[in-house]
Amino acid sequence: MADLSILVNGVRFPNPFIIGSGPPSTNARVMIKAFKAGWGGVVAKTAALTDSHVVNVQPRYGKLHSPSGDVVGFQNIELISDLSFEAWEGYYKETKDAYPDRPLIASIMECYNKDRWQEIAGRAAACGVDALELNFSCPHGHPESGMGAAMGQDPKQVEEVTRWVVEAVNIPVWAKMTPNITDITKPARAAVTGGAAGISAINTVLGVIGINLDNLRPLPTVEGHSTPGGTSYTAVKPIALRMVAEIAQALPGVSISGIGGVTRADDAFEHILVGANTVQSCTGPMLQGFEMVEELISGLNTRLDQHGFAAVGDAVGKSLPYFTTHHHLVELQEEKRARQAAAQAARAAKARSEQDTEWGKGKFEDEAAALTSDRR
Ligand SMILES: Cc1cc2nc3c(=O)[nH]c(=O)nc-3n(C[C@H](O)[C@H](O)[C@H](O)COP(=O)(O)O)c2cc1C
Repeated sequence: MADLSILVNGVRFPNPFIIGSGPPSTNARVMIKAFKAGWGGVVAKTAALTDSHVVNVQPRYGKLHSPSGDVVGFQNIELISDLSFEAWEGYYKETKDAYPDRPLIASIMECYNKDRWQEIAGRAAACGVDALELNFSCPHGHPESGMGAAMGQDPKQVEEVTRWVVEAVNIPVWAKMTPNITDITKPARAAVTGGAAGISAINTVLGVIGINLDNLRPLPTVEGHSTPGGTSYTAVKPIALRMVAEIAQALPGVSISGIGGVTRADDAFEHILVGANTVQSCTGPMLQGFEMVEELISGLNTRLDQHGFAAVGDAVGKSLPYFTTHHHLVELQEEKRARQAAAQAARAAKARSEQDTEWGKGKFEDEAAALTSDRR
């Protein structure tokens, strides 16, 4: 069996499967349940300093069904945690006390203010968490106040805020990227320039999950109205894989936590093959339960064995060399056609020259050449 453990920025994960920030990490009770089920790490639900104004609405989730009825996409208009940061300090400590050897990553978000970022980062680190994930990526609610994705779409702010946090703590800092941007490598590079050790990607894709065709109101509907929200689960996996690959190619050597549409081991293996060394899942455990990690572990083992990888790290980025430009694909195809045509011509000439009656049906010199061992 392959070694599923992986060392990332000095932190040892027993397996690469991490609970993504959200409902499956929304308090100490659920984080402890996740570790008990076997998850290799947990990113806690994003928290802010206590005076932040966070008011959630209900309902705040929606599902996207395929024509056959399967859930293929999910959407939320949930904000970050509405709990005080003092409550979070308690949760971090309680979870670390229960599972001291399992990596716990605090996810933090603040407005554009150095003192606030440094205060929240320092307080989280003082609780013994193993790393920080900076939420530059929440697509709804907070962008209205310049936080989350609004900050993450501005590489200058990403770099500056990351630098403030890196100055304030001695633990690895990951920056979580929004996919709601044309070129995700720009904020990712900015975060690394600011000192981030790793990039987490992606957060949710801004979307509208559907319209209620009886009353014509967009979903999820709150008092007859809605607002675009964050799409996740299977529907976003192609976008996530593309963006993880782009970051891996742009920033070789930077650790990547791949996120988006991980519902089973094969999804996680794909994230690893395009450059992720850990993989997060958030909607997966919400819809399938924490126990889904058992299939993630056994299925990844099977895939690593199938391809002869001794450790999960050996598979990281293994599909990246096979991405190229469309122009190059056309060239490769033309080269293959030319090789096939040449081989076919040689076979035809050889077949003709094997029987005396066939001589002269093609080009005579080619038929003679097909029978010649020294063709110089
Ligand atoms: C209900 C819900 C709440 C979320 N809350 C947060 C959050 O507080 N902080 C954050 O960084 N990401 C949050 N996310 C985003 C997830 O961590 C993840 O990046 C995204 O859902 C894509 O992964 P998935 O397809 O595995 O869900 C949330 C996602 C969902 C579905």
